[in-house]
Amino acid sequence: MNYETINTERQGKVMLFKLNRPEQLNALNARLIDELGDGLKGAESDENISAIIITGNDKAFAAGADIKEMKDKTFASAYMENFISRWEAITLCRKPIIAAVAGYALGGGCELAMMCDFILAAKSAKFGQPEIKLGIIPGAGGTQRLSRFVGKSKAMEMILTGRMMDSDEAERCGLVSRVIRDEDLISEAIKTAEEIANLSLPSLFLAKESVNYAYNSSLSQGIEYERKLFHSTFSLNDQKEGMKAFIEKRKPNFKNQ
Ligand code: CAA
Repeated sequence: MNYETINTERQGKVMLFKLNRPEQLNALNARLIDELGDGLKGAESDENISAIIITGNDKAFAAGADIKEMKDKTFASAYMENFISRWEAITLCRKPIIAAVAGYALGGGCELAMMCDFILAAKSAKFGQPEIKLGIIPGAGGTQRLSRFVGKSKAMEMILTGRMMDSDEAERCGLVSRVIRDEDLISEAIKTAEEIANLSLPSLFLAKESVNYAYNSSLSQGIEYERKLFHSTFSLNDQKEGMKAFIEKRKPNFKNQ
């Protein structure tokens, strides 16, 4: 895969996408979003890939949507092109996606990280939704996802003031799953992705689908949905193999069926 704004790297069953607009702190322009969407589609249909990492560089995961690109938009042009709707491509990927964040994850950068399945943060990571300082509001899901991650009070404070939070605060409030030393971020993300990639892919799809359903339903609907998906895992050969391997005290040999 040859892209201008992202680099790709394969590590066994893991595909790593590195955002690559360092001079602009990885500001997310239309080209980058399209290339990332295309790359994810490729990874999704590649049967040799089972887990994905999206990362940036030491200074920035991404400092937001590209302000220079969007500054002249009008309401009519933004509305007619349905600006930002193409970002949804990231949420359509069924394979597990880890965001490995060092440095700034601001505005659309924070929103992109939250579209991933979980966030591993380097100590240097800084998260924020500073759109209010530009006279706009978050537009790639920030008001919705940040509230679900960290609760109303902190989300409101972050979005109404535009202040940044550091990695320790982000871990305390549940925005990130773990904080890692900067120098270990990528190796730890790859290790985690490899662990995931060695599990049963249909079970991973079902697990991801079920957790995501929690955000789109009431508790009772979600419980009912989870139970149906859970029942369906008993139709997988991987379920038979996983349980047999446990009883035989050996590693399972999943075949993704
Ligand atoms: N868009 C376009 N360019 C950006 C950018 C962005 N979001 N963020 C940084 N850059 C560019 C800067 O313009 C600068 O380019 P030049 O060298 O050509 O001037 C370069 O990246 C380096 O940035 P700084 O000189 O500002 O670096 P710094 O270390 O002094 O500050 C920063 C870092 C605090 C992150 C600062 O760059 C900043 O505040 N960036 C904007 C953050 C922001 O407001 N993000 C939200 C965007 S709106 C959005 O995302 C909408 C949405 O919800 C979808």
